[in-house]
Amino acid sequence: MDMPIPQTKLADPKECGHVTLIDHANDKQYELPVLEGSEGPNVIDVQKLYRDTGYFTYDPGYTSTGSCNSQLTFIDGEKGILRHRGYAIEELAEKSDYLEVCFLLLYGELPTAAQKAEFGREITYHTMVHEQLQYFYRGFRRDAHPMAVMVGVVGALSAFYHESTDIHDLEKRRLATHQLIAKMPTLAAMTYKYSIGQPFIYPRNDLPYSENFLYMTFSVPSEEYKINPVLSRAMDRIFILHADHEQNASTSTVRIAGSSGANPFACIAAGIASLWGPAHGGANQAVLAMLREIGSKDRIPEFIKRAKDKDDPFRLMGFGHRVYKNYDPRAAILRESTHEVLDEVGVKDEPLLDLAIELERIALEDDYFVERKLFPNVDFYSGITLKAMGFPESMFTPLFALGRTAGWIAQWKEMIKDPHQRIGRPRQLFTGPTLRPFVPIEKRS
Ligand code: SDX
Repeated sequence: MDMPIPQTKLADPKECGHVTLIDHANDKQYELPVLEGSEGPNVIDVQKLYRDTGYFTYDPGYTSTGSCNSQLTFIDGEKGILRHRGYAIEELAEKSDYLEVCFLLLYGELPTAAQKAEFGREITYHTMVHEQLQYFYRGFRRDAHPMAVMVGVVGALSAFYHESTDIHDLEKRRLATHQLIAKMPTLAAMTYKYSIGQPFIYPRNDLPYSENFLYMTFSVPSEEYKINPVLSRAMDRIFILHADHEQNASTSTVRIAGSSGANPFACIAAGIASLWGPAHGGANQAVLAMLREIGSKDRIPEFIKRAKDKDDPFRLMGFGHRVYKNYDPRAAILRESTHEVLDEVGVKDEPLLDLAIELERIALEDDYFVERKLFPNVDFYSGITLKAMGFPESMFTPLFALGRTAGWIAQWKEMIKDPHQRIGRPRQLFTGPTLRPFVPIEKRS
């Protein structure tokens, strides 16, 4: 991009006090600094804990661990707040568009009209993929899960765009971030086309981002494709709602992969692999399967009972969240968007939506869910909207990955620029066997 664009610089966290750690076993005490950010919980800086005390911290699942200093996304789980660079998700979903949110996450400010036009041209310019990439698709079975294909072809980008893999060159780093945002829709659309045996559709430079994606996904060479503005607006809103979400599992995967100096394409492929899990981004597909398994409202109590049974692995998919202990603000926006899409496509009564609304009503009146603050999350309604838009369920998580690429690559860029960034290398609590002599095979019983 020719024009100067805002540069973000991570502010060093400020020390605002300390806590005292008393080691009764060794009759020692230690002062640990407390750091404060602009909002949210303060943190206890334990970077020197092992060196000074000989102790590790222990936090499986990192429920109480801050892994980094970030300025991108703030979540208040108790209040159901989600903001990107200070802007509320509700305002962004209503008044902005996905490319503006990409610019905001990458560069820290909403773009001016000129910056937006330039950024849009830059992204449009990179929407095509190398012609050889199509042969990667031909190696997959047509019925391969689209997430398996996306992990493969996104990782393969590093075999085609060598010039973007020098992570220490600012311009090459910027090129890689723009290439990924630009090419994910093309790769996702190609993944869908390959699965249904239709020809790949090249991107068009005269279409905005989400319109272009729907065109590449649903148009066929043999007839004119008419853009539906309600559906393309809903698609763009879905991408906004999935753009970034603090240090979730897939974003942490991207960060730790990037901390070794791996190229951005490989890091995003790692993020896609992590997102695929049903406890994470795979939940949107699992919600539809669950609703179909429930089948009718009279069977809801049976499944609510199963969800509460610790001996039953069944979980209410699309419910609960590690951080939100209130209604996921994205779910509320998606629920409204679902009605808009169903009206537009002329679906008068979608049994799955009726079932979802009734399931939500019953769950939110049940003590088990109320006590554990289990509310619908982003995945609860997204699948119903995407199904109404014509996507097969297997494409739901690739669409989540498409939207999340903005956040993944912005988090990766922030990590690379962090002067305190080091290779991620957690330790452990070892409870395995202590030293023992080797046993020759003839003496093993
Ligand atoms: C996403 O991290 C992010 O930000 C992720 C995400 C993003 O944008 O990146 O928001 C996207 O991944 C949303 C979540 C999608 N996953 C699902 O909908 C799958 C169903 N949800 C559960 O698997 C679960 O709620 C998790 C995985 C989302 C959260 O897991 P936690 O943090 O381990 O759950 P918890 O500690 O809050 O659970 C507290 C209690 C436990 O019971 P008790 O031990 O207290 O008796 O609630 C229970 C859990 O067993 N519980 C559920 C439940 N979720 C939690 N019980 C039934 N059904 C559920 N869905």
